[in-house]
Amino acid sequence: MVVIKLDNVNKIFDPDVHVLKDIDLEIKDKEFMVLVGPSGCGKSTCLNIIAGLEFVTDGRVFFDDVEVTHVPPKERRVAMVFQSYALYPHMNVRDNMGFALKIDKMDKEEIAQRVENAAELLSIEELLDRKPGELSGGQRQRVALGRSIVRNPTVFLFDEPLSNLDAKLRIQMRGEIIKLQKQLRITQVYVTHDQVEAMSMADRIAILNDGKFQQIGTPTEVYNTPHNLFVAGFIGSPTMNFIDVRFNERNGNTLEFADFTFELTNELAEKIKTLGLTQLVLGIRPEHIKITPEHHEKSFEVQVSVIEYLGTETLVRFDLSEGITAIASSNGFYPVKMGEKSFISFPKEKIYVFNKDTGKNILIE
Ligand SMILES: Nc1ncnc2c1ncn2[C@@H]1O[C@H](COP(=O)(O)OP(=O)(O)OP(=O)(O)O)[C@@H](O)[C@H]1O
Ligand SMILES: [Mg+2]
Repeated sequence: MVVIKLDNVNKIFDPDVHVLKDIDLEIKDKEFMVLVGPSGCGKSTCLNIIAGLEFVTDGRVFFDDVEVTHVPPKERRVAMVFQSYALYPHMNVRDNMGFALKIDKMDKEEIAQRVENAAELLSIEELLDRKPGELSGGQRQRVALGRSIVRNPTVFLFDEPLSNLDAKLRIQMRGEIIKLQKQLRITQVYVTHDQVEAMSMADRIAILNDGKFQQIGTPTEVYNTPHNLFVAGFIGSPTMNFIDVRFNERNGNTLEFADFTFELTNELAEKIKTLGLTQLVLGIRPEHIKITPEHHEKSFEVQVSVIEYLGTETLVRFDLSEGITAIASSNGFYPVKMGEKSFISFPKEKIYVFNKDTGKNILIE
């Protein structure tokens, strides 16, 4: 078993790129932890620190209760899978998979056995005698996984392993990595900038931005209760709509924007009063906006500017006021054309409210 712990870790690259700022992270035994965040936020750096390929400027790293902060990668028993899998082109799959074990002078029969087992796990038995050039992208990625599995790692680290694959293959490999996790039952850390990948694979997601973890939680936690504007905007697709609003206590505790008035739950209204805030940001996900071609109860009329029909849903972009647009998602086909009118309402129990100054979800403050 391996519990990975980062304790107050800082990483500063020369001259003074402060990538990780006092971060703490605990990855549970056999957990599938996904690190997400925008390009350049420090995901790979964080993973490399866990692998021992990069060392902290300050802070400590533990595997279980053993400090490994200065332990080289070879002694950590971690396997790492990268985006580019660099297989040896002149070797067949069997030799590619067994190569590291051979270097370690492992017994030939043991190597053969381990390669067979890994090949079976990955369903690539019939490819063992082929060269990498004779494989598809997905098959090559599976060989790269196999090459790591044969080493019986105690920790599996992935750095965007699927980003070279086309969309269809990514979804297939995503499923296979989830299946593999169930079979291997070891601690895994998976880096991606793709929030759909993160949501679908993770036991927990850690969202990194500005050198800090903005939130660490299960996919449902980060989707249902984003702690701040960044997380709210990063998780979910299409992204959450944000509208700058004013709290109006006289008008029955509502949020107001231009000609619109949005009702609030008692919980939110009380919290806003307790915090004494007036300038807020309202957040609502496209899938939670009610949009209909005809008037419905408490709905507002809006002008539809763009319609995107995607099969299972239709994305409807509409104008709220001059230059301010929002997106609603409607199940299936939505029978309204661009330039026509529609009616929207925001169910109050689906509304998020953020502090405009701090960006925090007011229910978390
Ligand atoms: N060896 C280095 N020397 C100096 N700066 C570095 C070094 N390695 C990374 N950086 C910087 O540190 C920051 C984080 O890099 P990192 O590779 O961890 O980001 P990332 O989140 O993995 O991004 P991506 O999604 O693009 O892979 C970047 O600004 C990068 O330019
Ligand atoms: Mg990276």
